[in-house]
Amino acid sequence: MTEPLLHPGWPAQLTSGPVELHPLRRRDAAEWSRVRLANESWLSPWEPTSPVPWSARHAPAAYRAMRRAVARRARLGTSLPFAVRVDGRLAGQVTVDNIVRGALRSGSLGYWIDRAVAGRGVASLAVALVCDHAFGPVGLHRLQADIRPENLPSQRLVERLGFQREGLLRRYLDIDGAWRDHLAYALLPEDVPGGVLARWQRMSPGRPVD
Ligand SMILES: CC(C)(COP(=O)(O)OP(=O)(O)OC[C@H]1O[C@@H](n2cnc3c(N)ncnc32)[C@H](O)[C@@H]1OP(=O)(O)O)[C@@H](O)C(=O)NCCC(=O)NCCS
Repeated sequence: MTEPLLHPGWPAQLTSGPVELHPLRRRDAAEWSRVRLANESWLSPWEPTSPVPWSARHAPAAYRAMRRAVARRARLGTSLPFAVRVDGRLAGQVTVDNIVRGALRSGSLGYWIDRAVAGRGVASLAVALVCDHAFGPVGLHRLQADIRPENLPSQRLVERLGFQREGLLRRYLDIDGAWRDHLAYALLPEDVPGGVLARWQRMSPGRPVD
C-alpha cells in the first residue's frame, strides 16, 4: 500500500556553488561504502555503539537497508535524510531526524563529512542550507544538535551558524562503546532573522567554499 505524502518540503534538492544536497539515492551504495570505509578512524568516535564490525556496517548492502529505512521515515515525515555532494562526488550526509510536529515542531540534526573535504566550509554550508530549508518549507521551529564535549569541530560549526548551548545532557547517548555526555545546542528561526546561510556567508566574507 502506498503511504500518503505527509512531509512538507520533502523530497528536496538544495544547492549552493559546488555543494549539492539531495535525498539518499539507491545507486549511491558503492560510493557511500567507499567513503565510509575510508573514514573509519575519523567517524567512529562519534557513531552509535554497535556489535557489528565497521566493515560490515558499511558494505553496499548495509547502505541499501539503511536507505530503505530512512526513506520510509522521510515519507512519514519524521526525517530529512540528505546526501551531500561536492563537485558531484559524495562527500557526506546531513539528516534532520526525530521530527515532531504539533506544538513543538522540532528535529535533531546529524552530519558527517569526508575527511578529504573537511576544513573547507563544506559542512557549514550544507548544514546551513538544511537549517534554512527546515525553518522554511518544512516549517520547523527548533533544530537541536547534541554534541560530545570532545568534538570541538562540531561545536565550532554549530556556533558559527548561530546555535546556542542550552545545557549538558549527562551520559545521554551510547556512542563509540559507552554512555557519553552531550552538550545540547539548539537553533530557532528567530535567532537568525536573515537566515542561516546568510549569517554564515556574512561571517566568511570572500571565502566561498573552494
Ligand atoms: C563536524 C564536522 C562535520 C565539521 O566539519 P568541518 O570540515 O570542520 O566544517 P567546515 O569545513 O564547515 O568548517 C571548518 C573550518 O573551515 C573554515 N574554512 C576553511 N575554508 C573555508 C571556506 N572556503 N569557506 C568558509 N569556511 C572555510 C571555517 O572557517 C572553519 O574554521 P574553524 O573551524 O577553524 O573556525 C567534521 O569534523 C566531521 O564530519 N567530523 C566527524 C563526524 C562528526 O563529528 N559529526 C558530528 C557529530 S555531532
